[in-house]
Order: sequence, then C-alpha cells, then structure tokens
Amino acid sequence: MLKRLDELQDQALKQVEQAADSAALAQVESAYTGKKGEITTVLRSIGTLPADERKAVGEKANVVKQAVDAAIASRADALKASELGAAMQAGAIDVTLPGRPLPVGRIHPANQTLRELAAIWAEMGFQVYRSRDVEDDDTNFTLLNLPPHHPARDMWDTFHTTQPGVLLRTHTSPGQIHAMRQYAPEPIRIILPGMCYRYEQVSARSEVQFNQLEGLAVGYNIHMTDLKGTIVAFARRMFGEKVAVRFRSSHFPFTEPSIEVDVECFLCGGEGCAVCKKTGWLEIAGAGMVHPVVLKNGGYDPSKFSGFAFGMGPERMTMLRHGITDIRYFWGNDPRFLEQF
Ligand code: DAH
Repeated sequence: MLKRLDELQDQALKQVEQAADSAALAQVESAYTGKKGEITTVLRSIGTLPADERKAVGEKANVVKQAVDAAIASRADALKASELGAAMQAGAIDVTLPGRPLPVGRIHPANQTLRELAAIWAEMGFQVYRSRDVEDDDTNFTLLNLPPHHPARDMWDTFHTTQPGVLLRTHTSPGQIHAMRQYAPEPIRIILPGMCYRYEQVSARSEVQFNQLEGLAVGYNIHMTDLKGTIVAFARRMFGEKVAVRFRSSHFPFTEPSIEVDVECFLCGGEGCAVCKKTGWLEIAGAGMVHPVVLKNGGYDPSKFSGFAFGMGPERMTMLRHGITDIRYFWGNDPRFLEQF
C-alpha cells in the first residue's frame, strides 16, 4: 500500500505539471484528491486495513495528499496568471477591471462670477438683455456720444472686420442702444453681460477679450441718488453687509455726471495691501447718469426720461476675490488653473 501511494503521488504530480489549462487541472484534482479520487479513496479505506498497517499508511497518505494539494494550488495560480495574460494579449475586455475615471467639467471661474452677479441684479429687478459681440462703429461709439475723431475713442481701440465700419464691440455699452430702441418709451431695468474685445498689448493686466456686465435703468425721475443707492445695495450683497463704498467723479462720454465706484478692500479690510496697492480701496465699476444725447439716440425724450448706467468687469472681480495675479489665466485653458474653482 505504501508503494501504491508513492506511485499515486508520482503520477499525480506529473499530471499536475502537465495540465495545460484550468479545466485539465480540475480533472486531475478530481481524479486524485476529489470526492472519489484515488488518494481520497485510500484515506477512506484506512479503517479497513490490518491494525499494524494503519498508522504508517495513514501518515503516508496524508503526506501525499498535502503534497498533491500544494502542487495543484501552485499550478492553479500559474495557470490563472498565464490565462489572464493571454486574454489581455488577445485584447479581450475584462469587465471586472475598474473603469477609468472621467474628467468632470465645471463652470469657468469668470462665468461663476457672471452668474453670481446676474442673480444679485435679478433680485433687484434687472433682467438679462443679450446683445451681439459684432457691432457697427455707430452703435459701439457714435450713438454713445463718441463721434469719429473723439479723443476718448483711443481708450477703446478694437478689432475691425474686413467690412468697413463692422467691428468687435469694445464694451457692452452699445447694448444700451439696442435695448432702448427696442423698448422706448417703456421704462427699462436690464443688465447686459457678455464678451468684449480690445486691441491690446496682452499682459498680466490686459487681455484682448474679457467679459463686462453693463447695467441700465431708464424711466421717470431716476436720479443720482438712485444710482448710488442701487450700487451700494449691490456691493453689500456681493462683498458683504458691512462693506464701505466710495464714489469718485470721473468721465465717460455716455454719462453725465460720471463716477467710478470703489469698495473697501475686502482682503485687508481697508488697511492697505498689495492687491489694493496700499490704497485700501478696490475699483469695481464705472457708472453715471445716462447722457441726454444717448437717451435721445435710444428713442427717449431726455426732458421726460432719465436713467443711470454702470459697467463692471467680472474677471477683475474674480481676480480680486481669489488673489489671481494674471488675467491671461482666464483664456489660457490650462486645467491646472481651471480645476481650482
Ligand atoms: N463702457 C465703459 C468701459 O468699457 C464702462 C462703463 C462706464 C459703462 C460707465 C457704463 C458707464 O455704462 O455708465 O470702460
């Protein structure tokens, strides 16, 4: 019987070694150590052996079974690995592998600010008015009280198309003309967000394209106090209840009088830092009372109607908020920048 066990072990180990795939190995297993396998049968029959043989045969049978089991397990591992390798080489899709993560898009930081601004102005009754990016010279300049050769046109050098007089708008202000002509003589309360273009030397502070958010209110008895109150209400919503707001007199051809709006620097609380250039104030908008010439060009009688307008830069606000030092990041399309917002 001991000799028989040696033979079984030799045979089994040889067949394990020769098993070419998992299915063949399973057959070997069932032939030797499975329920009706030969080694199993020997183990079961020990009780029927003469008493003096039992111990030696029992020990031997267990040693053989362990050796065969170990050989089967290690052969199974090897076969599995080579079968997986073969399947991968054959290009088979392994549906059990985890999927590749998809990059998830998000809202551009400039658009995040635009949406926030639009939501605040909506609360105050200002509706969005969409206006074109491609303008004619008249609407971008002349009708806004900037006649040809007006020196202030220098501030808004732009890109011209091959069609004379057709250009990319330098500001959202020409949208005021379109809106007024559409709604006159009804009162208006709108914001005009959108892209503007300027022929600029690109630098950390200037880009050839950027967003603006224009505002326009036209109606009866609209005064400078309405403009100031509305701007302060906006600034409190945008920058916090306690923010201080400052108005400086300025000049724009399309408003009279004109102002520029500063808010107390929210980074240093007005103490003076690098972002506010030690002034304690951040400029957030240009504004003013709509010039009578512009009202007339829009179709309103300036002796009956008045209005205010303002223009602000969402990118600039985003830069101030997040301490972004270079405006070129906005349209650079670098995910390392965009993923931070
Ligand atoms: N259009 C001006 C610019 O691009 C900004 C501006 C200033 C708009 C005053 C206005 C305004 O409506 O009243 O610099």
